[in-house]
Amino acid sequence: MQSCILAAETLGLGTCPISVLRNRIGEVAEILELPDKVFPVAGLCLGYPAQQGFISMRLPLEATVHVDAYDDSGLAEVVDSYDRRRDARHSIADRQRAPERFGAAAFYGWSEDKARQAITPEGVGFATWLKARGFTLDDEPGAA
Ligand SMILES: Cc1cc2nc3c(=O)[nH]c(=O)nc-3n(C[C@H](O)[C@H](O)[C@H](O)COP(=O)(O)O)c2cc1C
Repeated sequence: MQSCILAAETLGLGTCPISVLRNRIGEVAEILELPDKVFPVAGLCLGYPAQQGFISMRLPLEATVHVDAYDDSGLAEVVDSYDRRRDARHSIADRQRAPERFGAAAFYGWSEDKARQAITPEGVGFATWLKARGFTLDDEPGAA
C-alpha cells in the first residue's frame, strides 16, 4: 500500500487509506464478490485532490516511544500539548464530531476527536463474519 501511495503521489494523485470498510464488511464483500477466506485489510482511495494537501503533525516520540518499560505517566500533558500545537497549525474546531451527543467543546483538539470516535464501537461484527467465511480464529496447527 505504501508503494502504491508513493507511486500515486508521483503521478499527482492524492490517496487515503480506509480500514473502516471492514466495518461494513458484508456490503463490501458483496460488491467485491469476495470468496471464502478472503477479506480486505484496508481500501485505498485514489483521486485528484480538490485542494492542496498538507502533512499533518505526528504525535511526539515522548507519547509513542517507551524505553525498557511502558510509561504513560506524562501522557496527558504530552497529548494536550500536541493537541494545541496541531490546532494552531490546522484547527478542526469547526468539524466537531457528534455535537448533539457530546456538546460543543470550547477547545476541540485531535485527542477529543479520537475519544469521540473511539467511544462508538466499530467493526463489532467482523469476527463473526470471518468465522462465517471459513476462518476458525483458532491457533491450533492446521486451523485456517
Ligand atoms: C492502513 C490505514 C488505514 C486507515 N484507515 C482509516 C479509516 O478507515 N478511517 C480514517 O478516518 N482514517 C484512516 N486512516 C488514516 C487516514 O488515511 C489518514 O491518514 C488520516 O485520516 C489523515 O489524518 P492524519 O494526517 O492525521 O493521519 C488509515 C490509515 C492507514 C495507514
